[in-house]
Amino acid sequence: MEIAGFGVEEWLNVWEKKATYDIAQSTISSMTMQEILAIDGQNGQTFYDSLNQQKMNYGWIEGSPEFKQEVAKLYQNMVPDNILQTNGATGANHLALYALIEPGDHVIAEYPSYQQLYDIPKSLGAEVDYWHIHEENDWYPDIDELKKLVRPDTKMICLNNANNPTGTILDREFLQQVVDIAKQVDAYVLVDEVYLPLEHPEKFASIIDLYDKGIATNSLSKTYSVPGIRVGWTASNAEVADIFRKYRDYTMICCGVFNDMLAVYVLKNRDKVLARNRKLVLENLQILKDWVAKEPRVSVVLPEAVSTSFPKIDIPMDIEDFCIQILKEQGVLLVPGNRFDMPGHVRLGYCAPKATLVEGLKRLSTALKAFD
Ligand SMILES: Cc1ncc(COP(=O)(O)O)c(C=O)c1O
Repeated sequence: MEIAGFGVEEWLNVWEKKATYDIAQSTISSMTMQEILAIDGQNGQTFYDSLNQQKMNYGWIEGSPEFKQEVAKLYQNMVPDNILQTNGATGANHLALYALIEPGDHVIAEYPSYQQLYDIPKSLGAEVDYWHIHEENDWYPDIDELKKLVRPDTKMICLNNANNPTGTILDREFLQQVVDIAKQVDAYVLVDEVYLPLEHPEKFASIIDLYDKGIATNSLSKTYSVPGIRVGWTASNAEVADIFRKYRDYTMICCGVFNDMLAVYVLKNRDKVLARNRKLVLENLQILKDWVAKEPRVSVVLPEAVSTSFPKIDIPMDIEDFCIQILKEQGVLLVPGNRFDMPGHVRLGYCAPKATLVEGLKRLSTALKAFD
């Protein structure tokens, strides 16, 4: 089974630990254990008392009942039984694709987005058509292009909503049009929903709330700031959840007792976590906006209170070479756009701690001035 290298992951694996000003990541500033456990005002007292009593056996295979209940509450009509815990959203995407895609299947994938969503189906022998996003259209894909791509045998449409790297939300009305097209050919719609917009929640709809053959994947890694616990999930209808169970048994057993406990804690304190993160996202977005306005070589379709952005950088230099140079000379980490097959851009993770963002942008300005 051939598979392409994962552009962003390969970049981060090599460079991320060398950064002083990491403004490449897509997580909203990760929390320390101390910060996490301060959220309920108990500083870990109850949490650690309970943890100390836990046997470190496998725990709940599919995720604890509490975990499944908390996740089910994120959707309008989801039963806990149809939630399956996975090793991050990466594990959730992999499970969904591995379980449903067969050689010869036709898959349509939003492009570029999270590379798993097109390169795993390709590696499984599917014929994958790209549904391109367009910068001039606020990074939306064109619904007429989807109508042209869809076929009677289309098995699945894969989306990343909101999109990594652009931070664009496909709004409820647009998603409904995708669903209408998918319904005509009875295709699944798999949506990676790890980036929840923290403003105008009415614009966003989970695919689960729009379509019976919708599959949502998600995790606590981005919007909830705890990628270190490696907990994600799939949400689907009962029939699909049963298919997933079969394949899941071959690729993982559980996410671990500790991870499940912490995931439940974060989900139960979701409002407080989201309040922390909403403040950070909105303040940092303003910093990004002000910075872009002053930089003649930079333009951006602003993300919608989602923790990733994809500015265009106008420089007479290869973008990956520039990103390596700015890391070595200024300590600033970005993701070069060629890692998303869009070399005119960089992924700028503006939801780093505020001081890191401010200094990182200042140093990026210094590097850009060299081209004047
Ligand atoms: C769209 C998308 N899905 C999934 C992931 C990975 O998430 P997790 O840490 O939950 O595996 C990422 C990480 O960058 C992502 O951008």
